[in-house]
Amino acid sequence: MHSHSLDLKAITAEIAAEIAQATDRGRVADYIPALGAISPAHFGMAIVLADGTCHLAGDADVAFSIQSISKVFSLTMALGAVGDAIWKRVGREPSGSAFNSIIQLETERGIPRNPFINAGAIVVCDMLLGRYEPREAIGDMVRFVRSLADDGQSGDGDIVIDEHVARGEAETGFRNMALANYMRAFGNIHHPVEHTLGLYFHQCAIAMSCRQLALAGRYLMAGGRNPATGRSVVSAQRARRINALMLMCGHYDGSGEFAFRVGLPGKSGVGGGILAIAPGVASIAVWSPGLNERGNSQLGTLALERLVRKTGWSIFDPVP
Ligand code: DON
Repeated sequence: MHSHSLDLKAITAEIAAEIAQATDRGRVADYIPALGAISPAHFGMAIVLADGTCHLAGDADVAFSIQSISKVFSLTMALGAVGDAIWKRVGREPSGSAFNSIIQLETERGIPRNPFINAGAIVVCDMLLGRYEPREAIGDMVRFVRSLADDGQSGDGDIVIDEHVARGEAETGFRNMALANYMRAFGNIHHPVEHTLGLYFHQCAIAMSCRQLALAGRYLMAGGRNPATGRSVVSAQRARRINALMLMCGHYDGSGEFAFRVGLPGKSGVGGGILAIAPGVASIAVWSPGLNERGNSQLGTLALERLVRKTGWSIFDPVP
């Protein structure tokens, strides 16, 4: 269905009303107090269409911790900085295991299955460090995300790193430290692990609203270009490939279930956000903090499932 023939105002309002009623909201991540304190009652949704039109529902302007959704932006930056050489150090296959699992790293000699599991994202951070100090690389990443989210009016300057979350990540990140050290033993981490992890922990702590996130994802629905400015962020081929990775690996061992229910490239984070892309049509962000047993937003997934049913936007729907 063409986006202009849909009543997206009514559709998003209907979805928000249904989600508000839901009693089983999943479990909020509580490995750090800054996330554990967030109410599971929140729900936000933002849809940005290819023509720039924006539809918002619920808490679409409330900032939340984007966590692993940042892995899409760091991968995009690394493709720009290092190019296809990144595929020598990280794979492109779904892992079928939890986001923070270490088991495959031993048999696969320190090469993570994909850039969206923690091990893969840590390698990507190691590449982004290059000759930078961690602080410069962190600043670069925040500026990059701000530039992606910039719509020239609603203000992107308030995209910041939540230092409370970043500190919590560092204080509890024992598995990530293990992953980084283990990969360093195989020669796949080139910087001191505390530098690489400094960047990783800070990227997990970027705070954004659904509106900002949907705006930041525009290049992925539009062949790698920001549709508002026409400026290229990545090549069309790379945008297509990032979408392919999001579809296959964006929800870890829940990626099959997400493709089955929603059928869009998507990336989740333990803050309860999901960025989903309907190529050529829309960039969509949802946020509901309660997670399902795989660590993906329970009601965020339900909201996207409802959205594709009402719009026909799944990539597996026949082209209208
Ligand atoms: O690195 C970690 O384990 C946490 N910051 C969680 C990252 C994340 O969002 C994984 N996903 N669903």
